[in-house]
Amino acid sequence: MTTSILETQALTKIYRSGDKTLTVLDNVNVTIQPGDTCAIVGPSGSGKTTLLGLCAGLDRASSGSVFLNGVRLDELTEDQRAEVRNQYVGFIFQSFNLMPSLTALENVMVPLELRGEKNVGKRALALLEKVGLAERKNHYPAQLSGGEQQRVSIARAFSNQPKILFADEPTGNLDEETGSHIEKLIFDLNKEASTTLVMVTHDMELAHKTQRIIQIKGGKIVQERLVNESVSARR
Ligand SMILES: Nc1ncnc2c1ncn2[C@@H]1O[C@H](COP(=O)(O)OP(=O)(O)OP(=O)(O)O)[C@@H](O)[C@H]1O
Ligand SMILES: [Mg+2]
Repeated sequence: MTTSILETQALTKIYRSGDKTLTVLDNVNVTIQPGDTCAIVGPSGSGKTTLLGLCAGLDRASSGSVFLNGVRLDELTEDQRAEVRNQYVGFIFQSFNLMPSLTALENVMVPLELRGEKNVGKRALALLEKVGLAERKNHYPAQLSGGEQQRVSIARAFSNQPKILFADEPTGNLDEETGSHIEKLIFDLNKEASTTLVMVTHDMELAHKTQRIIQIKGGKIVQERLVNESVSARR
């Protein structure tokens, strides 16, 4: 058991194709306290998206463990992991991952419906308003630009009021103005609801706005440094 919101122990992911193996994550140990903010940086292909997916319980490790809010994910079934995700996790995907057959509004409604909440349509619309997309609510993902799809994905990630938000290049496809608006929404979530933030980014300016920068290369953590005071240290 652990009091950390997120802890990985010797997390390893190996892909096999034929007789070749590719070690994408190699013994990664990360511990994040509730309410903290952290950036994961590193070159393309270094394992950042893979790490995020394992931490959020979207994928399974080859070995090692992930504890999310004290729950050991590798001991759970697929359904149980989905339940944990719905309960605690928001995820902004690098590739958006919207459901193509659902409108923008319906995509944001899904996590709320899964939780059996009330006034789902109204709340989803308010979230779309926050990301500046209310007037696009009836559009399907294919009718939206990349940046617009990213903003729907952000509204969806906010909808279940997650304890921890994983964001994979959340501002990567946005213009500067929209990007800084989204950045503010994400950091506000941290300030107002103490949502823990784990962000993958190539934007070092954004990384420096978090408390801790974890640099990975070839699937290993090569550097970890505090750049701002953490919430847990201030307590
Ligand atoms: N399903 C898979 N099968 C085989 N190899 C994979 C699979 N998914 C990812 N990889 C490999 O794992 C490595 C890490 O991928 P990952 O997506 O985690 O990188 P990344 O750091 O997020 O890169 P980027 O900055 O380009 O998004 C890459 O070499 C990739 O080719
Ligand atoms: Mg990636």
